[in-house]
Amino acid sequence: MKGKYNMRTRIIGTGSCLPEKILTNDELSRMVDTSDEWIKTRTGIENRRIAKEETTYSMGAEAAKEALLQSKTAAEDIDLIIAATSSAEYAFPNTASLIQKEIGADGAACFDVSVACSGFIVALNIADAMIKAGGVKKALVIGTEIMSGQLDWSDRSVCVLFGDGAGAVVLDGNCQHDKGQECNSGKANASGIIDADIHSDGSRGLVLTCGKDTPVNMNGQEVFKFAVKKVPESIQTVLKRNNLTADDIDCYILHQANLRIIESVAKRLKLDIEKFPHNMDKYGNTSAASIPILLAELNREHRIKSGDLLVLSGFGAGLSWGSLLVRL
Ligand code: ACO
Repeated sequence: MKGKYNMRTRIIGTGSCLPEKILTNDELSRMVDTSDEWIKTRTGIENRRIAKEETTYSMGAEAAKEALLQSKTAAEDIDLIIAATSSAEYAFPNTASLIQKEIGADGAACFDVSVACSGFIVALNIADAMIKAGGVKKALVIGTEIMSGQLDWSDRSVCVLFGDGAGAVVLDGNCQHDKGQECNSGKANASGIIDADIHSDGSRGLVLTCGKDTPVNMNGQEVFKFAVKKVPESIQTVLKRNNLTADDIDCYILHQANLRIIESVAKRLKLDIEKFPHNMDKYGNTSAASIPILLAELNREHRIKSGDLLVLSGFGAGLSWGSLLVRL
């Protein structure tokens, strides 16, 4: 069947913004009883960025501007902005509306989604569905977080893990074909978002929490066990549904929480770690921003290219997890 129901939503631009201030493991070891060695071997994290002047919406807007520029899209052509964040400055207005003002996307509908570290995956899934439903042609999906404001800086089990930053993508629901050519956007090798698998398990929600007046609190081992089980399961679900093997994927872009989680997922899928790029060494866990920050970095460095088949997977508080299959 041709037409809007089998068209694909393409990612046509990426961008990111990281705060200037770098906080190293060594600096942290002077704040709490920890060491560079412990943090590096347990998590793969060496540095993280900390927002000083930046806000979730100012970083989101900078990331969005880069994605718009790269995709040659005018802000006024954006119909929808979704910001994935759990660290918004305000309960209202939402972060997406504040970003709208900063970038001048006056025609866009704006809202936030709050699914912690899985937020970007869920927001992309929602934007894709809204584009396919009609009415939205171009969308901005942004993950932006100031995790440093949600931490107890005397709790070494948590404060060493997180960082701040933002990443963005521009989505396009228009067909790629030239006038007079047959539309190929429904074909198997067409670029765009192909499939999504998203889940929550609220019964285990209290293993990872952050309240109005309470900092991030986590049972790290429970979250670890959950991630190494559910992420490979979710990836296998989208692979199987699309008659693909793990080897068919060019690049796995996973939430950047812990290198050991990524190594374990690679092992369970019987894949070389080479297919799992990572940058948590530089930025720590930036929650909903980690996947679009990595995506933008890989794109900028030409480490991913048009035609590549990607799996994006997020996991975190909720508990929540999910994967997207995307052809660039
Ligand atoms: N420095 C030094 N020692 C520490 C530190 C630290 N920063 N933190 C904990 N320790 C100590 C503990 O007190 C414990 O000491 P003990 O043996 O004397 O009791 C020892 O190190 C081992 O602690 P564990 O908690 O067992 O360490 P583990 O190997 O499990 O690593 C970690 C902890 C890194 C948190 C790991 O469990 C993890 O990464 N979990 C997943 C977290 C995650 O992925 N979160 C993503 C979601 S975030 C979101 O959605 C917002």
